[in-house]
Amino acid sequence: MFNSLKAQAPDKILALMGQFRADPRTDKIDLGVGVYKDAEGRTPVMRAIKSAEKQLWETETTKTYTALAGEPAFHAAMAEMVLGAGYPADRLSCLATVGGTGACRQAFELARLANPGCTVWVSDPTWPNHLSILAFMKQDYKLYRYFDNDARAVAFDAMMEDLQAIKAGDVVLLHGCCHNPTGANLTLDQWAAVADLLEAKGAVPMIDLAYQGFGDGLEEDAAGTRLIAARLPEVMIAASCSKNFGIYRERTGCLMVLSDAASKEVTQGTLAYLNRQNYSFSPDHGARLVTMVLTDPTLRAEWMTELEEVRKGMLGLREQLAAELRQLSNSDRFDFVARHRGMFSRLGASPEAVEKMRVDNAIYMVGDSRLNIAGLNAKTVPILARAIIAAGV
Ligand code: LMR
Repeated sequence: MFNSLKAQAPDKILALMGQFRADPRTDKIDLGVGVYKDAEGRTPVMRAIKSAEKQLWETETTKTYTALAGEPAFHAAMAEMVLGAGYPADRLSCLATVGGTGACRQAFELARLANPGCTVWVSDPTWPNHLSILAFMKQDYKLYRYFDNDARAVAFDAMMEDLQAIKAGDVVLLHGCCHNPTGANLTLDQWAAVADLLEAKGAVPMIDLAYQGFGDGLEEDAAGTRLIAARLPEVMIAASCSKNFGIYRERTGCLMVLSDAASKEVTQGTLAYLNRQNYSFSPDHGARLVTMVLTDPTLRAEWMTELEEVRKGMLGLREQLAAELRQLSNSDRFDFVARHRGMFSRLGASPEAVEKMRVDNAIYMVGDSRLNIAGLNAKTVPILARAIIAAGV
């Protein structure tokens, strides 16, 4: 039967990872996959995570199953980080998931169970795997305009115009912060306007929060999510711990669902059911480390310090790249690089220009000209700036 299988199109981001690895040039620069790298190009295990692992090794006495939906302590720690200390526990259901991707997948599954006819509205552009998963699930989705490719900024009027068409019970997927792939984010006023619209239409926001702490700060990056959570009766939040805790391969994520208090028990039970049907228990190691880091004041302080180093390092690289490009282009047309937040910026370059930079300069970015700022360092910024100008961007 397997000879009837058709080859699947490779994931663009993961295919680029393989292409980069295979390139023999020693001066190659990887601005592809969204993985944080320090100035030496390493993705270190964060210090607080190392300390927590040591403590865990010394104290853990069993690896028997945990709860199907994950540990309540993990849920509480994540809810506090994402929603703030006063989160509405009586309305909140939580699920430990296989990374942020698993949280997205389970959110789509939950929406489909609750409202089989719903449409999921997704920003254009978005993380390609959102669309890929929705297509795989045969889930209806529609795109709403999000990015103004000339201004390299949020096309807010166009977004709101498109979202006028949402129906009650539709799901609107929003990036909580550090929009992937553009780096262009909603202001708090814009979040409030989106909340008004979704409330008026009776639609359900689903927030993908994969980069909390990488933009303006841990609290600041949650502001849009918290605003939505305070305003809307039903909300889904898919939070990832891959980037902000640097535990990519541990596959640690959490799906949080706000419902009315009367529906909480069934919602929580349905989340656990979704884990059981798809893969039973989510990995626990990363979730346990995150819980330890978030709840132990010493570990938390150590983690916050490192997270801030990471965030400020990326901001510094943004400033440097914008300044180099200002000088080389003798214009301010690349200043958006300094305004964007998170790991990514979309340059607005053509696929040909992206390919030229790969061929001529061994610079790898995703074909839509998304670049991972964390793939740069002080020495490679001028190389990239020269390549961008040489490619005619
Ligand atoms: C990215 O967008 O590069 C990351 O989220 C990694 C991934 O899984 O695609």
